[in-house]
Amino acid sequence: MEQHFPKDTFESERRIFFPYTQETLHLFNTDLNGSQERKEMKQYLSKELDVLAQQPEICASSLPFTGIEARETLRFHRSLPLYRETALLSLSAAAARYGTGGIYVKDESTRFGLKAFKGLGGSYSMFRILCEKLGLDPRTASYPDFLREEIRGRCRRIEFATATDGNHGKGVSWAAKLFGCRAHVFMPKGTVEARRRAIEEAGNAEALITDVNYDKTVQLAASLAEQNGWILIQDTSWPGYEKIPHWIMEGYLTLAAEAEKQLGGKEPTHIFLQAGVGAMAGSLASYFLSRAADRKPLITVVEPKAAACFYVSAQAEDGKAHSIEGNPVTIMAGLNCGTPCESVWPLLRDGSAFFAACDDRITEDGMRTYANPLGADPAVKAGESGAVSYGLLLKILQSPELRSFFRIDRDSVILLVNTEGDTDPENYKRIVGE
Ligand SMILES: Cc1ncc(COP(=O)(O)O)c(C=O)c1O
Repeated sequence: MEQHFPKDTFESERRIFFPYTQETLHLFNTDLNGSQERKEMKQYLSKELDVLAQQPEICASSLPFTGIEARETLRFHRSLPLYRETALLSLSAAAARYGTGGIYVKDESTRFGLKAFKGLGGSYSMFRILCEKLGLDPRTASYPDFLREEIRGRCRRIEFATATDGNHGKGVSWAAKLFGCRAHVFMPKGTVEARRRAIEEAGNAEALITDVNYDKTVQLAASLAEQNGWILIQDTSWPGYEKIPHWIMEGYLTLAAEAEKQLGGKEPTHIFLQAGVGAMAGSLASYFLSRAADRKPLITVVEPKAAACFYVSAQAEDGKAHSIEGNPVTIMAGLNCGTPCESVWPLLRDGSAFFAACDDRITEDGMRTYANPLGADPAVKAGESGAVSYGLLLKILQSPELRSFFRIDRDSVILLVNTEGDTDPENYKRIVGE
């Protein structure tokens, strides 16, 4: 396997890691690739947080995206009437207070007026599907082509279906209206009514709450799509269903390309990416890991403890993706997914440096600190799935053990994505206050 990371990535850490006094730390060997090659993983366990650390190793050829695809995606999104770059916020006071080189937050709470980044994937994948169906060239077509009456007439007859725990469905509903189509959106048991209503209000969709968990809702949407001739627009892949999830991930590249430009030459050393099925994390990880060896950041996959399917899969030591069964309970609704996206798993399995499983209290802390920042730092409105990476970062920065475990020092440049605003306003108020 081609090695892109400095050989000593974790060598120096071994001395620092042992002995651990305050927390439980295990060292174990794992064979992630199912090959002869042994990979060393380290584990950090505490009440609120479990982390696995490994030396990332990934071949350039196994990265699905680079900056080249991102340029195409950006070109399409720029043709949308509501397109505006979202802000990259610098939390300079927090970085100074905690002694690190920089903390930057790509704030997706304002994306397309949908309060989350997901419209990027919904709109771009719908564009690609419609181009294919209507015989348009996606390299030259753009949104204004879909305003032509003849195209509009054909779009009116096209219906989509999807399963969602909220934000993806909202993006699909919004995109369906944009292109003059219709969507059917299915949501898992336990979904709050406000999220269901927000989907219908965002565009052109009917949204229904099922009485099964997220994974089973995906299966339901797939079979109803098949029966009714709707196009399934799902953000997770399985054997035989890969093309559309790939386009959804491609849509998220706009976020990465904007962030890179806004960083203005500053190189992120650490990127924390929330994962539900992992499409967003996979897309951004691929973009940033396609850089030259000395510019590759350390990627952390961040999940809720209750639905940490990437963490559990990495821990299983057999190289395969594993599911969390049952109905996991977490306030991080967008991350409450039991099964890693099949096409994303190998990329994050090999390319990530850390897998972090976080208790709900970590994201609550992140939400409150974003809303009440230090010094002159900007306040950020971050929902449950958006704030967990900041909650995690705060926990790391406040603990010398965790700082060294995550290899954060005074020069580290940290990139976070606030993936959603107050998508559940009632819960947001309960946690953050007015
Ligand atoms: C706000 C938010 N953040 C992060 C994610 C995770 O995205 P993915 O499912 O692609 O891992 C989601 C997914 O719905 C989400 O809604």
